Amino acid sequence: MLKKSWHLVTIFVSSYVSTLWYYSEKNVESPLYSKVVMPLIHKLDAENAQNLMKFMLKWGLGPKAKPDLYDGSNPNAPDLVSSQLNLLTQVLGYPFDSPIGLAAGFDRDAECMEAVEQLGFGFMEVGSVFPLPQRAHYSKTFRTHSQGNNSNRPVFDTLIQTHSGRGNSKGMDYIHDQLHAYREKRNKYSNGYFRVGVNLGGTNVGTSPSSSMQSVDDYVNGIKKLSKYADYMVIHVNSPMDQWYQDENSMEELLEKASAEIRQQSLSCSRQIPLLVKITPDLTLNQQQELATLVLKHKIDGIIVSNTTRIERSFVSQAHLPESVLNPDLNMIEVSGRPLFSKSTTVLKNMYKLTDGKVTLIGVGGVWDGHDALQKIEAGASLVQVYTSFTAQGPAVIGRIKRELSQLLKERGYKNVSEAVGAKAKLSELDE
Ligand SMILES: Cc1cc2nc3c(=O)[nH]c(=O)nc-3n(C[C@H](O)[C@H](O)[C@H](O)COP(=O)(O)O)c2cc1C
Repeated sequence: MLKKSWHLVTIFVSSYVSTLWYYSEKNVESPLYSKVVMPLIHKLDAENAQNLMKFMLKWGLGPKAKPDLYDGSNPNAPDLVSSQLNLLTQVLGYPFDSPIGLAAGFDRDAECMEAVEQLGFGFMEVGSVFPLPQRAHYSKTFRTHSQGNNSNRPVFDTLIQTHSGRGNSKGMDYIHDQLHAYREKRNKYSNGYFRVGVNLGGTNVGTSPSSSMQSVDDYVNGIKKLSKYADYMVIHVNSPMDQWYQDENSMEELLEKASAEIRQQSLSCSRQIPLLVKITPDLTLNQQQELATLVLKHKIDGIIVSNTTRIERSFVSQAHLPESVLNPDLNMIEVSGRPLFSKSTTVLKNMYKLTDGKVTLIGVGGVWDGHDALQKIEAGASLVQVYTSFTAQGPAVIGRIKRELSQLLKERGYKNVSEAVGAKAKLSELDE
């Protein structure tokens, strides 16, 4: 009897998996994903859910919006949907088939690039890469629900409670090998427009975390080692690195040395490798002004606005998250998703004005649909990234944002993405 029910369970599970596989292979927007797979994934806690998504992508179990680009059968495949040609854009010296990309943090160890391309993203950022393999001393990710935006789609934010921004990483050597293998394969089989940026984290592992000098070396070594595989490099200067903003000299030193190193690497690779800096939205207006001046002075190519925002634990309501799941020793919590949208868009708009539109901006923070993406673009972003809405809504969100954005551009009379960049920032004032 017991044996019989096990057979039934096995038959049921295998037919479910085969059906899933069949549909998923065919269509990234299959209702099987939005109605079955994502709700099942969300039964897990936020960290395990994300790990499962990553596992599926890493092992080729994710859906595909594009045909297989790496089997040699499809050598010329920029993903140009004829009705969305207005999404085609030229940024940082490269063509992009869409301005919608996956933000840093999802694929820290550069294990899912092919799968992410096949989901339909125009670009992605791997990392943050840390110098040595590390496990976060204490890092816990929670999911909580917040008010939806105008689309009334299910919304959730991510709260991260962590020590000094330290995340898990397999370290620079591992990521070097991953990127090397990826580039070899890609150069051989695919010449689509997909771009991969490499984001360097500056936490100083194994030496004194408070020594800014040492951390400058970490960034410079990261550029030296990884930039030949990157379409662009990012130095991620964030919360644990408050010292960078408090001490203008150390920020200046970081940007000066990083930009000297990228020039060196560009020379030896015979191509211009853009360097960007990723910032927190929690900067004061003064700090934003100082940063803009330094970025222009050191000819940094772009700014990614923004990372997660930090709030005090006491602001997280009991209704959203029981106090019992939080570590009482850690007072600050990082928040991604919808609550970040307006703060990060304000800083984005400020940075556009402060740099006179001369620096490429990537807008990230709380983007849920095509309307949000257009708001980021009109605030000054040439490219837009998503993280939380992807982990919340699943792979269908990419096609949806692209369709909505393409349609909205037409409705508002923009011929293409670049015509909309900064359209609303030009006339606005700087905001605190
Ligand atoms: C769980 C988690 C981990 C993240 N890890 C990184 C990281 O390693 N490096 C980085 O630059 N940003 C990291 N981020 C920030 C995201 O790249 C993005 O800037 C932020 O979440 C805002 O976008 P969103 O509202 O679309 O999530 C992380 C975000 C989350 C939620």
